[in-house]
Amino acid sequence: MWSKNVSFTNGELHLSGIPATKLAQDFGTPAFFIDEDDFRTRASAWNNALRDEFGSHAGTVYYAAKAFISTAVATWVKECGIGIDVCTGGELAVALAGGIDPQKIEVHGNNKSVSEIDRAVSVGVKTIVMDSIHEIDRVATVARSHKKVQGVMLRLTPGIQAHTHESISTAHEDVKFGFSIASGAAWAAVEKVLSHPELELRGFHSHIGSQIFGTDSFQLAADRLISLLAKYRDVYGRELPELDLGGGYGIAYLPGDETLEPGEVMPALRSAVTASCEKHKLNIPIISIEPGRAIVGPTTFTLYEVGTTKDVVLEDGKTRRYISVDGGMSDNIRPSLYDAEYHAVIAHRASSASTVNSRVVGKHCETGDIVIREINLPSDIAPGDLIAIPATGAYGRSMASNYNHVPRPPVVAVKDGKARVIVRRENEEDLLALDVKE
Ligand code: LLP
Repeated sequence: MWSKNVSFTNGELHLSGIPATKLAQDFGTPAFFIDEDDFRTRASAWNNALRDEFGSHAGTVYYAAKAFISTAVATWVKECGIGIDVCTGGELAVALAGGIDPQKIEVHGNNKSVSEIDRAVSVGVKTIVMDSIHEIDRVATVARSHKKVQGVMLRLTPGIQAHTHESISTAHEDVKFGFSIASGAAWAAVEKVLSHPELELRGFHSHIGSQIFGTDSFQLAADRLISLLAKYRDVYGRELPELDLGGGYGIAYLPGDETLEPGEVMPALRSAVTASCEKHKLNIPIISIEPGRAIVGPTTFTLYEVGTTKDVVLEDGKTRRYISVDGGMSDNIRPSLYDAEYHAVIAHRASSASTVNSRVVGKHCETGDIVIREINLPSDIAPGDLIAIPATGAYGRSMASNYNHVPRPPVVAVKDGKARVIVRRENEEDLLALDVKE
């Protein structure tokens, strides 16, 4: 839940030795604090586990930029020797600004624009993952105009209902992503790609969803993709080299939550891939993965300051304490969007006060602006207190908005006892910058 270099002394949170009070003083609240060392450790752990299990068949760990990206983070990704998965031209631009080698970039997206495709092909990204028949033609046209042969994969829907929130489940049949294996759309896409000499089909991809626990769904997806690799070999007499099994590995948000560790996932994937390849008498393909949340999620906490508290009597006569913090749904939309649950602690002091049924809410003009729906917090929480929420690194700042014209918080990286801003706080000028005066 907390990143590796978070510790508590006399009730005060410290990140890499820096007390929460100092972080709040120096950088203000709300703010995201990212533990750089923890990010690098997690990225390397996935990379090492992939290599340990698959040896010479290990492909690339593509960090899913959508979870959180900035130029600095892209640089860390590069230095860790892993690749990156981008799904828009904007994410591609940041990856390139961070110095990532295009040959370590994989481009996703179910509706890439021609200009996004053009940029990707012209800089020489390794793979573009195809998501529709229209796109196959578009990428071929762009590649032809650049006189290049572009490496591509096909995103497939293996028809798996992963056990997670509906909005973040992506590989059952009724979704916008990918080509269905069951309906025959996947095979039609294979034939379409092969009809274009400007495209080199590298293999198949699937991403079955996010915040998934247990390895069964990943193993099943691998088996279904490998069946299609076997069909390809049977029809064309040659084998496709690569499978990308996506991301989606679950992390802990609450005390007692489990985490899907690389040391658990990779052996399970290896045994599923090996068994399935043996069944079909196929060579083991190169295996790549795309963890986002599992790398960045636990590395970051959000620091808020309490502005007000209010007791509200509920219909059953019980009381709920509303604790309002200085951010909310503009820096963490996940509770409103996915009923996501978070934990909170007082960040700067110990408290021996008894706890009360509390709801942590933001400052937005909206009832649904809830950070934590239900939590027991010390009854002495008061205006001016600092509250820290762990595990906000994935899809927090990256999904932040300016709702109610609230400036988005900064991201501060902490390493070896030193803190520095890697994404600065927005200000009033930023909020007005796009407005055209009449
Ligand atoms: N690869 C592909 C093709 C993806 O679409 C995604 C996430 C990932 C990898 C990384 O998944 P991860 O390892 O981070 O779970 N906003 C939602 C999550 C949406 C994920 C979309 N795709 C949330 O806040 O839970």
